[in-house]
Amino acid sequence: MQPLTNYYLNSYEILMTETSPKELQIFLDIATEAALAAGAVLESYLGNLEAIEEKRPGDLVTEADKASEATVLEVLNRHLPNHAILAEESGGVGDMGGQYLWAIDPLDGTTNYAHQYPFFSVSIGLLIDGVPQVGAIFTPFNRELFRGAKGLGATCNRRAIAVSQTSELSKSLLVTGFAYDRRQTDDNNYAEFARLTHLTQGVRRSGSASVDLAYVACGRLDGYWERGLSPWDLAAGIVILEEAGGQVTAYDGSPFRLDSGRILATNGKLHHSISGELELVRQQHPALSDRDSAFKKLLVS
Ligand code: IPD
Ligand code: CA
Ligand code: CA
Repeated sequence: MQPLTNYYLNSYEILMTETSPKELQIFLDIATEAALAAGAVLESYLGNLEAIEEKRPGDLVTEADKASEATVLEVLNRHLPNHAILAEESGGVGDMGGQYLWAIDPLDGTTNYAHQYPFFSVSIGLLIDGVPQVGAIFTPFNRELFRGAKGLGATCNRRAIAVSQTSELSKSLLVTGFAYDRRQTDDNNYAEFARLTHLTQGVRRSGSASVDLAYVACGRLDGYWERGLSPWDLAAGIVILEEAGGQVTAYDGSPFRLDSGRILATNGKLHHSISGELELVRQQHPALSDRDSAFKKLLVS
């Protein structure tokens, strides 16, 4: 594929403020090319890591993260040299407040990866005017490619996907995660995890936020919540989930903000119930001084 710079300069679409479906499809294909190429890099390093560093306690980075990111950047810069990029390991390049901003997690699930636990992905999202509108998530361990673009639907390996129809908490399977600062804050998600584990068929912790969102999108899981996340963890998964019919908000049901790092993402049918339980726990949380009695209180059905 040729660089798109000329395409834009010559095209009618440049006169329009809205990105056309045709452009979205092109961006989606570029995201796909980058995700598959970076996924191959991750496969090549798996089990052969020489360097594992800690960015902060428990937050790992490996040579695979860096090599994967370099691959994604090469693909994006080749096709879209004028687009801004926010990548986890190398930071921001270009106008972070501009029309097009790519949010890249070159290896989402680094801890899993370092242990050769297979839940990890490459996650590539495009924000257009601050809103996630294109996303590709590739999981090399089972070769699944989740894709979505605003108005174009969501797929897994090119088949359309949709969220589950589960409408009762007692029949649901959820997923969550625990942020790297969990030892430094009371807002560590332990109480929320206990409460929802008690009320559902289970709450999984996969260790890859993008995989969590993709699995809610395709109906394997019914809902996901987590805090302490970054735009690169979420951007791709949000558009895939929304295009699959899911709902994304803050914990309390108010509009989602990417800069909050806190997300509730569900099949829609369970949104109100999960939001209610999270809010209940959070209202009680500040008053709780003794962790054991707190858990007992929360587990009363
Ligand atoms: C992490 C994973 C994990 C989530 C963490 C993220 P990383 O990303 O998505 O599931 O719980 O909050 O930071 O560090 O493996 O790219
Ligand atoms: Ca991540
Ligand atoms: Ca990462």
